[in-house]
Amino acid sequence: MNILELNHVHKSFAKIEGEDVTQALSDITFTVQDGEFLSIVGPSGCGKSTIMRLIAGLIFPTAGTLTLNGEIITSPNTERGMVFQKPTLFPWLTVKQNLDFTARMKGYTHKKDYESESERLLELAGLKDFRDDFPHQLSGGMAQRLALIRTMINNPKVFLLDEPLGALDAFTRMNMQDEILKLWQRSNHIVLMVTHDIDEALYLGTRIIVMAPRPGRIREDLKNNMPYPRVRTSDEFLQMRKQVLEMLNFGQNIN
Ligand SMILES: Nc1ncnc2c1ncn2[C@@H]1O[C@H](COP(=O)(O)OP(=O)(O)OP(=O)(O)O)[C@@H](O)[C@H]1O
Ligand SMILES: [Mg+2]
Repeated sequence: MNILELNHVHKSFAKIEGEDVTQALSDITFTVQDGEFLSIVGPSGCGKSTIMRLIAGLIFPTAGTLTLNGEIITSPNTERGMVFQKPTLFPWLTVKQNLDFTARMKGYTHKKDYESESERLLELAGLKDFRDDFPHQLSGGMAQRLALIRTMINNPKVFLLDEPLGALDAFTRMNMQDEILKLWQRSNHIVLMVTHDIDEALYLGTRIIVMAPRPGRIREDLKNNMPYPRVRTSDEFLQMRKQVLEMLNFGQNIN
């Protein structure tokens, strides 16, 4: 059982000039374990990406601790896979090479160890016919799909998704939501996903974290017990949607 714990995490950034600091996060505490899918919503600038980068081990807290299975997070690691809002691909490698390179980073040294999964993911993302193309030849949505499957191939214990579907058209977006759901249900690992889309947060998450800005805080940590597959037009769904929207408005007006 994997357990990710954030314990009284604060994060400030120094401004370029003077001694002013931006207090990006204040006293963030939550625990998430295998089988949980956390959707994180909140106004722009409330520290959502900062939380993801802290968990990824790309930056460090000003105070407080982040642990995975009791161990302090000290650096990036393939056990915590992150998909950024803007796809970060290796421009000098083809689609297939981008995928295989990440598998080798995980420590798979023999092609046979990752080849079938690599092929399956290419198929799933509709990229099989583009396997020999380079990232600049792909559409925005295709590049984003490649970034997603590239993180999926390592089956991370913690899957960090920072608005991964923002660049996709509505149809592809709904398909990818179902793929992310399937991946999570199969692995039963931890997923944290930042989104601006309330419907997406409710369609996917077992929990919805609603944040408030300046400094970024957790306003609500809501359980979402609706059974899967969820129906976006059901009364229960619409009721919860209303609840989250009201919280977000309230969150924006308290400063
Ligand atoms: N490297 C940095 N240096 C200085 N300030 C930063 C840095 N990264 C983030 N910040 C500040 O921290 C705050 C939170 O930023 P963050 O990117 O986490 O917000 P966000 O919730 O992801 O916003 P958005 O929804 O627009 O992506 C902002 O005020 C931002 O200016
Ligand atoms: Mg962000």
